[in-house]
Amino acid sequence: MSELDPSETTPVDPASLALSCRGLVKRFGATTAVDGVDLDVPRGSLTALLGPSGCGKTTVLRMVAGLLDPDAGTIDIDGRRVTGPARTVPPERRNVGMVFQDYALFPHLSVVRNVAYGLRGRSRRERRRRVDEALSLVGLSELGDRLPTALSGGQQQRVALARALAPEPDLVLLDEPFSNLDASLRASVREDVRRILHAAEQTAVFVTHDQEEALSLTDRVAVMEAGRIHQLADPQTLYTRPATRFVAEFVGEADVLPGRRAGRYLVDTPIGRLPTARPLEGMDVAVVIRPESLRLRGRLDGAGEVAAISYFGHDQLVQVTVADGHVLRSRRGPHLDLERGDRVALEVLGPVVAFDHDADPSGTPDAAASGTVAASA
Ligand SMILES: Nc1ncnc2c1ncn2[C@@H]1O[C@H](COP(=O)(O)OP(=O)(O)O)[C@@H](O)[C@H]1O
Ligand SMILES: [Mg+2]
Repeated sequence: MSELDPSETTPVDPASLALSCRGLVKRFGATTAVDGVDLDVPRGSLTALLGPSGCGKTTVLRMVAGLLDPDAGTIDIDGRRVTGPARTVPPERRNVGMVFQDYALFPHLSVVRNVAYGLRGRSRRERRRRVDEALSLVGLSELGDRLPTALSGGQQQRVALARALAPEPDLVLLDEPFSNLDASLRASVREDVRRILHAAEQTAVFVTHDQEEALSLTDRVAVMEAGRIHQLADPQTLYTRPATRFVAEFVGEADVLPGRRAGRYLVDTPIGRLPTARPLEGMDVAVVIRPESLRLRGRLDGAGEVAAISYFGHDQLVQVTVADGHVLRSRRGPHLDLERGDRVALEVLGPVVAFDHDADPSGTPDAAASGTVAASA
């Protein structure tokens, strides 16, 4: 993986870091689960670790929590070295809270006793105060005497969060915390969790394979694949200036066309010549087209043909076959003015993102600037 352009990442003052990982490596037999991860998390931020199943997200969290020793690398929490050569601070002395996918609540203990679990060793009064605070933060003050089995999934999730927050940790780690919830509940619980973490000014790292969840919930997203971080940036930068083709395709919807360099900032594609915001290096490039940036107009001499329409009510996704049999998607409003078989003219809004084929997956990114530019199609 090539070094990222420093201008692509938000600069961070080292003194303000809640977590700093350098060169983390973890192997399981022949599998390299984590392959050189650097990760900085500023205090008070909500950072997502986003990537497909098996890319090493949980392994990173477990190393940060101290549940697993890395083969190489260092971990600092709140400026204190907790993992490094000849140094391992045990999990219970890292001041890190964890929320697991299955919540891991004790079924035979009441809500209050579940939340108090991480407060052993503190005075009775102190325990009482922190449990009350944490339960009030998650809106469960009235349900302290219930057993977890008498709670909904969303409520159990909030108990798990209260338990993690009660000891006032420097850092909370959440591993796929919403994956056990129904789709209908997920959006509202997600919003609750965000509000609670913000209210507590809590630094958190949140693992998910769901890009929508990562983008909508967090300030910063690290996109991971095969044990490596491709890019760490705010959601808008990830979407509009993906550093690699993997990021472009994993975050948001993207279709990819082959392209050939026609100038420093110009690429020839099967739908015509398109501008690129960044200079092109190689001759052969992969051009990323986002469905919402592709506009269609019904025209008898149009270069595309409507192959399929999926209607969602609030919008529709139109598949268009273009030259050489490539298929592009266009997302447009609810008005149905096209049908299968219609010829359409295509227009791409804004300069496109393109990656060198050879350098993939770490090709030179092209920034997508604002502005409307018509493709010749
Ligand atoms: N304890 C383990 N023993 C062997 N292989 C493991 C173990 N934990 C994780 N792995 C492997 O490491 C890789 C990364 O796993 P994991 O961190 O759980 O991924 P993610 O959380 O992104 O889905 C996977 O290939 C997984 O099979
Ligand atoms: Mg996992």
